[in-house]
Amino acid sequence: MITLNINGKNHEIDADPSMPLLWALRDIIGYTGTKYGCGKGLCGSCMVLMDGTAINSCLMPVSAMQGRTLITIEGETENLQKLQQSWADLNVPQCGFCQPGQLISATALLNKNPKPSEEDIDNAMARNICRCGTYQRIKKAIQNTAE
Ligand code: FES
Repeated sequence: MITLNINGKNHEIDADPSMPLLWALRDIIGYTGTKYGCGKGLCGSCMVLMDGTAINSCLMPVSAMQGRTLITIEGETENLQKLQQSWADLNVPQCGFCQPGQLISATALLNKNPKPSEEDIDNAMARNICRCGTYQRIKKAIQNTAE
C-alpha cells in the first residue's frame, strides 16, 4: 500500500510503485482535474504541487510521493483560490484543458514570490503550454492576484 497526502487528506492506494502519480490521481483516487497532455514532461498540463513546488505528475512515480504533501487543482489553498478568482474575472480559459496546470504553476510562483516581476512570471510559467494562446491573460491574472 502507498499512502498519499493530497489536499490535506490521506489516501491509501494499492498501485504499482512505478505508476506515474498522474494515473494514481486520475484513475485510482478520482482527482480528474489534473490533465494528461503529453506524458513526457513537455506540456505542463499535469502539474501538481509537491511540498509547494510545481511538478509534472506524469513523470513522478507514485512511490516517490510517500511522505510528501500534494496539492491538486481541487485543493483549497489561499493563493490557488485567489488565482482561480482572477482567472474567472478575466475569462482566461479558452478550451480550458491546460488551465489546471497553469494555475498550479502560478500558485507555486506566488507561494514563493508574492510580488513577481514580469520576468519572474515568464520564467515560472515557461513549462506550461497553451494551444489557445491565453498567455497574456494568464500573465495579467497573476499580476492582478499579486497586487
Ligand atoms: Fe505531463 Fe504533459 S502530461 S507534462
